Amino acid sequence: MRVTVRDLSRFKTENRRFPVLTAYDFLTASILDQAGIPILLVGDTLGQVVLGYETTLPVTMEQMLHHTAAVARGARSAMVVADMPFGSYQGSVEEGFRNGVRFLKEAGAHAVKLEGPRLQLTQALVEHGIPVMAHLGLTPQSVHALGGYRVQARTPEAADRLHSDALSMEKAGASALFLEAIPADLATAISRSLAIPTIGIGAGSGCDGQVMVITDLLGMGSETPPKFVKAYADLRQTITEAVQSFRDDVEGGRFPDDAHSYH
Ligand code: KIV
Repeated sequence: MRVTVRDLSRFKTENRRFPVLTAYDFLTASILDQAGIPILLVGDTLGQVVLGYETTLPVTMEQMLHHTAAVARGARSAMVVADMPFGSYQGSVEEGFRNGVRFLKEAGAHAVKLEGPRLQLTQALVEHGIPVMAHLGLTPQSVHALGGYRVQARTPEAADRLHSDALSMEKAGASALFLEAIPADLATAISRSLAIPTIGIGAGSGCDGQVMVITDLLGMGSETPPKFVKAYADLRQTITEAVQSFRDDVEGGRFPDDAHSYH
């Protein structure tokens, strides 16, 4: 059975913690889905992780649709959330609405995610049956305005503003709230005051769910990851050793051997 926004709401009422991971392709999505991850986020971190850009800003609608469709084909049970890329929803509610629709209609997503408080667009999408996840705190599409990737809402005024934006996004109809790089105490307070679940990344243990970028979790990401990243494997090393063994075997004439040849 497919995980839906009703399950998310149940997780919150049952006080159940849940994991969320990013996925960008069919194979990874099917592994994560079978491993029991209930929500797969096709993040616009696609830009950095898969496409090699420095920021998420160059990511286009077409790239997001292409990768979301691949993830949706691999996700039998997980809910697939598509990140709306920079420039696809900031201009007008009409444009944001049209682009949001494309993720469900053309790519098979089950919800979209928007950075920043976007009350009108959220209302419009939700009214037409498109679940929305909000994203507050460090919003990487505003990296230049924020002056870099830094922890947000450290002053009492900024914390109050963030808290009030969170309440407004819940009121506008958001199904969940991603909170990125904010002090743990603030994330806990926001999580306690909302009826929708919060999903933290660098926001401490008081959030209802936790999200990680899959390549960070697998130890394939940046060599100097942010403080909130915990690598559960060292796949960069594992892959390097495997391909070096292959290289050595080919160069040494040991591959293919009889066992891997047709006779
Ligand atoms: O794009 C992304 O992967 C994200 C998560 C880091 C929350 O927005």
